[in-house]
Amino acid sequence: MSIDAENARSAAEVAFPPSGEFAAQANATSELYAQADADREAFWADQARHLHWDTEWEQVLDWSGAPFAKWFVGGKLNVAYNCVDRHVEAGNGDRVAIHWEGEPGDSRAITYAELAREVSRTANALASLGVGAGDRVAIYLPMLPEAVYSMLACARLGALHSVVFGGFSSEALRTRINDAQAKVVITADGQYRRGKAMPLKTNVDEAVAATPSVEHVLVVQRTKTDVEWNDGRDQWWHDVVEGRPASHTPEFFDSEHPLFILYTSGTTGRPKGILHTSGGYLTQAAYTHRTVFDLKPETDVYWCTADIGWVTGHTYIVYGPLANGATQVIYEGTPNTPHEGRHWDIVQKYGVTLYYTAPTTIRTFMKWGAEIPARYDLSTLRVLGSVGEPINPEAWMWYREHIGGNRAPIVDTWWQTETGAIMISPLPGVTATKPGSAQVPLPGIAAKVVDESGEQVGHGGGGLLVLDQPWPAMLRGIWGDDDRYRETYWSKFADKGYYFAGDGAKYDDDGDIWLLGRVDDVMNVSGHRISTTEVESALVSHPTVAEAAVVGASDPTTGQGIVAFVILRGGADDQASGEAAIKALRDHVAHEIGPIAKPRQIMVVPELPKTRSGKIMRRLLRDVAENREIGDVSTLADSSVMNLISAGFATSS
Ligand code: WTA
Repeated sequence: MSIDAENARSAAEVAFPPSGEFAAQANATSELYAQADADREAFWADQARHLHWDTEWEQVLDWSGAPFAKWFVGGKLNVAYNCVDRHVEAGNGDRVAIHWEGEPGDSRAITYAELAREVSRTANALASLGVGAGDRVAIYLPMLPEAVYSMLACARLGALHSVVFGGFSSEALRTRINDAQAKVVITADGQYRRGKAMPLKTNVDEAVAATPSVEHVLVVQRTKTDVEWNDGRDQWWHDVVEGRPASHTPEFFDSEHPLFILYTSGTTGRPKGILHTSGGYLTQAAYTHRTVFDLKPETDVYWCTADIGWVTGHTYIVYGPLANGATQVIYEGTPNTPHEGRHWDIVQKYGVTLYYTAPTTIRTFMKWGAEIPARYDLSTLRVLGSVGEPINPEAWMWYREHIGGNRAPIVDTWWQTETGAIMISPLPGVTATKPGSAQVPLPGIAAKVVDESGEQVGHGGGGLLVLDQPWPAMLRGIWGDDDRYRETYWSKFADKGYYFAGDGAKYDDDGDIWLLGRVDDVMNVSGHRISTTEVESALVSHPTVAEAAVVGASDPTTGQGIVAFVILRGGADDQASGEAAIKALRDHVAHEIGPIAKPRQIMVVPELPKTRSGKIMRRLLRDVAENREIGDVSTLADSSVMNLISAGFATSS
């Protein structure tokens, strides 16, 4: 479970209080906790008032249909209007919304006024393709401004976007399009990856061959890669969008009008379409962005390095920052293109003040060496964020020293696709931060560490993380599957009405929360959620594989690495255990799910460790994959199996 529990314990003795100077100018003071404690709903209503509402709500929270929440009931707003037009109307049209930096070095500065025009054009274009309120649009794009325009254009029209990460395979894209019954797919001809133009539309062509709901494919030209063209279905972005009128009158939608679906991995093979709605989501996105990053929209330059295909990109590139009128950097490429200092070059070029990234990226920077960031002027940085997995104290300290100049507070932010926005995090002007701990629920948010029976554990105790009060940005369900929503998140502590997050956690002696990783069959690889079952299904769909068991083994850079144990079909052993055959299996997984799901290691085994009832004991396989002594084997149907497996593993790795 815990990667660094031991280190964490000793590091807990270190804490870094905010400087007096930082605290004096901070957006959030300790008063905020008191306000939220005094009256939670009034507190959230105050936060919602930072947005523009066409019609004010009648009720802050309706929890009578729990676990289906309604926030700001009766209120009406337009999310895109809030993120774009109102900043222009307030006289900030000339402020840069996006400093876009292409991987090959091209760049564009997009002001709020320009963003308003582009979003309007895109909305007009989508409307002309028949997209209206309630329709679904799949977005499969690299990190281009058009991705932001597309998301906001959907929001403007009341259509739901379903953004699919550009690293997912055509197969993964097809399943998601079909589940949501998307009408339009927006993609690009190709994308830049490590200095090379890679095709992207080909994946869409493969996917939409079996997606009856798709009427149009809109294609942004980025790399000028040759593409196949399906007349009548495919349209170039520049033909359909560029000539459209640059104004569009927004319609105001109900606070609970759906905003987007985002698929994420759960414990079964089938990804879940997490559903988010408008008013509550935008309220918490803007509030957390403003308080956790201490955003000053007039002076800060913010940069979140996530991809738009993940929830972090949704909430902390698109909705939070733009609702707050922030100036931000969006970077198209990888951190080592064309050199390992690219991020620091960008920080220096734009004078980035707030920087938000993932522990796996920080550990990669550590591997490349502290001398690389040392070559750049990083003195503008004033808040550093971390998200996606527990950050080990060594990486935290390195981040603080080599990127933050021992000056910028670090906010370790815990949240999930399902929570929609940050839930547990220090406040940079208030909290004395501790390396490796996300520490405290934000004002207005309630979280607890409980034991298996749902009782809160004491200081120093460990258990499971639950959220015991509804929150504005919470998911409103799983697309098309209410039962699965109840079962997945609310059944474990049904009697208490707690949301079970799937994470293990503990309190330290001060009562601060330390996240300890997933306790279910979800792996966390470089901050990406991948289910063991999903990879197992991909492996057994290959003709040579009879059975497969997959575990996440701790990995110094990626947090966890995927290790697969496979039993081959009779007769396949000879050709399939060779190196080429293993490579074929890894490629097969990449084809079925995407390169991020490629196992780090695949091992051919004669048997898998199973209980008498036939359940695979992944715990034992994890022991093997992490080179530990094998745990208790007494519940195995055949305890000699483990000897065979561990002997084979030792020779193969
Ligand atoms: C993990 C990403 C520890 C956790 C926003 C959670 C974290 C899952 C942290 C959600 C953190 C995210 N410390 N663990 N600061 N942030 N996680 O849906 O296991 O991609 O359940 O959302 O990532 O991943 P998701």
